[in-house]
Amino acid sequence: MSMGKEMPKVIAVSSGKGGVGKTFISVHMAAYAADKGQRVLLLDADLGLANVDVMLGLQSKGSVLDMVRGEKSLKDLLVHCDAGFDVLPGGSGLYELTALDATQQQVMMDEMRQVSSDYDLVIIDAAAGIGDNVLYFVSASEMALVVLTPDPTSLTDAYALIKVLSRQRNVRRFMVVVNQADAFDAQVTFRRLLSVADRYLDVHLDYVGHLPYTTDVRRTIQSQSLLKAQDAPLTRQALDTLYEATLSRPRNPSRNGGLQFFWEHSLNEGMNVTPAESKGGV
Ligand SMILES: Nc1ncnc2c1ncn2[C@@H]1O[C@H](COP(=O)(O)OP(=O)(O)O)[C@@H](O)[C@H]1O
Ligand SMILES: [Mg+2]
Repeated sequence: MSMGKEMPKVIAVSSGKGGVGKTFISVHMAAYAADKGQRVLLLDADLGLANVDVMLGLQSKGSVLDMVRGEKSLKDLLVHCDAGFDVLPGGSGLYELTALDATQQQVMMDEMRQVSSDYDLVIIDAAAGIGDNVLYFVSASEMALVVLTPDPTSLTDAYALIKVLSRQRNVRRFMVVVNQADAFDAQVTFRRLLSVADRYLDVHLDYVGHLPYTTDVRRTIQSQSLLKAQDAPLTRQALDTLYEATLSRPRNPSRNGGLQFFWEHSLNEGMNVTPAESKGGV
C-alpha cells in the first residue's frame, strides 16, 4: 500500500531516574534485533556514566557539531559494532540536541530522518528525567519504553515522566519494563504505577516484562562487551523473553513510524500551532 519503503520502527528508551538499566537494555535490544536479521541503528542520546560508548568500547568519530556545520554527515559519525548494528555514540553529542539553534536542529532532524530510513529498527537511549532532550526524542518516536526498578523513587520519577510526556507532548502509549526485580516484584511495581496512572492520567501502559537483578549484568558492563549465553544462560534467557515481547508488540497506528519531530506532531495534531507559524518554523 505504501509508496517506497516502510518507515523504521523507532523505540525511545527512557526512565524517570538514572541508573535503572536503560543503556544495558538498549544495547542488548539492538544486538538481539540485529541477531534476528533486522537492520538496527542505536542512537545514544544519554550522557550517562556507563553510556553506550563505554559499554561497547566504542569511540566517537566526531560530533554532531561537525555535522550541523556541514563538515560531516550523520553517516560519517556512525560506528558499526561487532554485534551487527550501527551506533551513533554518545560522545558525538546528541544529548545536546535541544541546545542547538533552530537551523542546526533542522539539519540534525533531516539527517536523522534520512539515515534512519536505511534501518528496520531505530533504538534511542534517551536518558533519564524530564529534560528537553528526553521529551524531544520520546515524542519523536513511534514507541516509548519506560524502564523502572522497584525502588520507590524510581516509581515516582517514572510516573512524573509519563505525566509530562502525556500532558505536554501527547504521548499516550508506553511500554514498561521493570528492571532489577523478579517476576513477582516486577508485577507489583507495575501495578503500583498502573494504579496511579489510571487514576490521574489518560495513558495506556503496557507491561512488556522484567529483568532480574543479577551480577551477570555488572560483570558484562565491566567487561565492555555484550552478555553471552554461555557465560550467563539465565540472564540471557530473561533478556530474550523481554525482547521477544517488546519487539513483537504491534506498531503504533497513530504514529507514522520513522522519526517524527515535535513540530511535525504539532502540525498533525493541531497543538497550539497556527498554519502561518508552522510554515515559518519548518
Ligand atoms: N538487572 C540488573 N542487575 C544488576 N545490576 C544492574 C541491572 N541493571 C542495571 N544494573 C546496574 O546498574 C548500572 C546502571 O545501568 P545503566 O544501563 O547504565 O543504567 P542507565 O542507562 O539507566 O543509567 C549498571 O552499571 C549495572 O551495574
Ligand atoms: Mg545510560
